Amino acid sequence: LTGKKEIKIGLLGMGTIGGGVVSLLKRNGGRIEEKIGAALSLEKILDLDLDKLRAAGFSESQITNDPSAVLENPAIDLVIELIGGVETARGFIKRALENGKYVVTANKDLMASHGGELLALAREKGVNIFYEGSVGGGIPLIRPLKYSLVADRVTRVIGIVNGTTNYIFTRMDRDSLSLEDALAEAQKLGFAEADPSSDVEGRDAAYKLIIMAGLVFGSSIDPGQVYVEGIGGVTYEDIAYARELGYAIKLLAIGEKLPQGLALRVHPALVPADHPLASVSNEFNAIFIEGEAVGDLMFYGRGAGSMPTATAVLADVAEAARCICHQSVNGVIENLQPERSYVSIDDLNNRFYLRFLADDRPGVFAALANAFGDELVSLDMVIQKRRVGAMAEIVIVTHDVQEKAFQRALSKVMQIDAIKPNPSILRLLG
Ligand code: HSE
Repeated sequence: LTGKKEIKIGLLGMGTIGGGVVSLLKRNGGRIEEKIGAALSLEKILDLDLDKLRAAGFSESQITNDPSAVLENPAIDLVIELIGGVETARGFIKRALENGKYVVTANKDLMASHGGELLALAREKGVNIFYEGSVGGGIPLIRPLKYSLVADRVTRVIGIVNGTTNYIFTRMDRDSLSLEDALAEAQKLGFAEADPSSDVEGRDAAYKLIIMAGLVFGSSIDPGQVYVEGIGGVTYEDIAYARELGYAIKLLAIGEKLPQGLALRVHPALVPADHPLASVSNEFNAIFIEGEAVGDLMFYGRGAGSMPTATAVLADVAEAARCICHQSVNGVIENLQPERSYVSIDDLNNRFYLRFLADDRPGVFAALANAFGDELVSLDMVIQKRRVGAMAEIVIVTHDVQEKAFQRALSKVMQIDAIKPNPSILRLLG
């Protein structure tokens, strides 16, 4: 024990999550302090907008817009980084670690792109960096992945880790909203990113997958090896057909440990209605884990928002405070060795859903069947419905097929004269 009775905190950034952290600390600080056996004091709060900090009731001695007042301040034991973004936050965190301070962050972009470097620096300096709020907001996830599953081999992690896109799909399904209108509502409710293209194009989910995969598969992940496809191509018609076929469409982040290597991907997928992930609606997140010994696990809750994420940040603060008081660095769980083998999406097997319009005339189905048959793609389900004019709408679901064989068959299908361009193509969760 160091005998330390007070942990002095520097908070970088008083945005949505920063505000949540301050108010939760006010509300529950006493309880947390009882559990850790030391007082927590907000020594300095940094924000560019000092008037905002004054309006929040902080004294002049507590507020600053000068990073050195936090990072070079010898009184500060622990820095909470909530400014977001990559390069500035990375520089701040490195300075904090260099100066022997513990760090807590909810910055997924940074931990996904530079987590290995920061964890190694923390280790070298005899401190640690905690990042529970970076994935799944308020869902306790990093800690279970890091500590509770250390004795098992995880074979697959499947996450609904982006609340914005899950909300969009839910509203498209239940209220027939367009993607754009549902996105505007998600932004109003405050869980979309400042730049929502990161949500819609799947990058936000990819960052979260990189962090989770690093922990469950025990290696440092190369972000360039993750296949990322957003939700832009999914229409209301696809959601309705999926429902008719017994599926829900979700944006999934999937990490698999295969004999040939790691397969990491983010894409929308048809999830069987009886899979626990199918019933995860609105902005909720869920992470489904398959372990060899433990079997199936699912973590569910609010993956974004000020107060849920603040619970994760303050749990990290409590853990860091205990490390400081007990002079123990709780940080040798992450393996920082780079992952060596990856499997490309082209080599993965999936079932596929395909929807397109075609002229309704003789021979179209025969040509289709030939194109698929030539590539040994076996069809599982076929629906044809009459559309306005002379058009037929055709929906096909294949059996398991390797991605590249499906793509070859698809390019032959799209050469058939009667078939209209821009089909919807989605994978199924197997
Ligand atoms: N934009 C994210 C989401 C916020 O919608 O889930 C939390 O990372």
